[in-house]
Amino acid sequence: MATAIMQNATQYELKLAQRMSRLGTETAFEVLNKAKALERQGKDIIHLEIGEPDFDTPKNVVDAGIDALRKGWTHYGPSAGLPELRQTIAEDVSRTRGVKVTPEEVVVVPGGKPIIFFTLLALADAGDEVIYPNPGFPIYESMIHYAGAKAVPIRLHEERDFGLDVNELKDLITDRTRLIIINSPQNPTGGILTQQDIQDVADIIGDRNIMILSDEIYSRLLFEGQHHSIMSVPGFQERTILLDGFSKTWAMTGWRMGYGVMRPDLAAHITRLMTNSNSCTASFTQIAGIEAIRGDQSSVEQMCHEFQRRRDVVVAKLNQIKGFSCRMPKGAFYVFPNITKTGWKSKKLADALLEQAGVACLSGTAFGEYGEGYLRFSIANSMENLTKALDRVDEWTKKNL
Ligand SMILES: Cc1ncc(COP(=O)(O)O)c(C=O)c1O
Repeated sequence: MATAIMQNATQYELKLAQRMSRLGTETAFEVLNKAKALERQGKDIIHLEIGEPDFDTPKNVVDAGIDALRKGWTHYGPSAGLPELRQTIAEDVSRTRGVKVTPEEVVVVPGGKPIIFFTLLALADAGDEVIYPNPGFPIYESMIHYAGAKAVPIRLHEERDFGLDVNELKDLITDRTRLIIINSPQNPTGGILTQQDIQDVADIIGDRNIMILSDEIYSRLLFEGQHHSIMSVPGFQERTILLDGFSKTWAMTGWRMGYGVMRPDLAAHITRLMTNSNSCTASFTQIAGIEAIRGDQSSVEQMCHEFQRRRDVVVAKLNQIKGFSCRMPKGAFYVFPNITKTGWKSKKLADALLEQAGVACLSGTAFGEYGEGYLRFSIANSMENLTKALDRVDEWTKKNL
């Protein structure tokens, strides 16, 4: 049926560019579509697949955006972002990472994702090697392939609380390594890089001319300890591209706004990519972004506190489910239970839970080959729904395992 529709759509064969065959995807959106289709058939589904806060954007930030629209912030702005916002971000990053950042080192883009996209387009040539965490955010691998570079996964180990083994990192670095991607707090595991981990990674890189893309989009969603950035390590600021943004911290996923902090010469090239792709990030959202960073932070603290409360309940419940065992994530809003003892493959189990138990979650393999044996549940849903979802999973395992 679908094929017939596609065939009728046009008489011309679609001839895609070769590079499109190398582009991956983010399975969360596919699972969401499948879950929505089941809902249309009348099924009751609890959504634990998508990675976005279930909170509203704080009122002061929404008000600032509306006010900006009314005041006429509806035009193009500079490709690298509004000077006031770049200044605000530079001050914030200087304070939180303990480094001196100037506005020329900040590029504002529509979301965190474009920094991944642009960094790979700007730095990775065919044949270059890029090391990235696995399991990890799927867009890294997708974009490495798209840029034509070689994707070199570094395994995250559950027994290290989903940290990486620096000796393995050492073995993966070659003369062709151009970029290393790190992510803390981490999607999908909720693991973090401690100060020692960061120092170890820095020591292994030493004075090699390798750039580091440090994805710190969950830096404010941390349940214990402090956030540590490789940008703070002496000698590493000019080799680091720090990715952070507004989507998670201020529940602004739909506003599409993030940023990269990097040496000014690279910032100029990333800005050229912005000019060629988006022209600029929406102006009124940037005005709201200034309020997000400078304004009252109590909603961020409340959200983080609520995620922690849910995490504690969810992890305790998961550990009671037959065949499941779950570590305590230290940040972000995901739990990543080990399901090997169920005897099921991750993807098959995720599909069964969606179709038979009405719980949408992601297979660990959506985050790379080393995600086999795990599922990812987002805890960005109400405590009531989380509890109900886990009761359903529990019941399903009792019936089927
Ligand atoms: C690790 C990581 N980096 C980047 C992003 C992209 O965020 P944004 O929605 O701002 O593009 C996400 C979103 O899920 C993420 O999990």
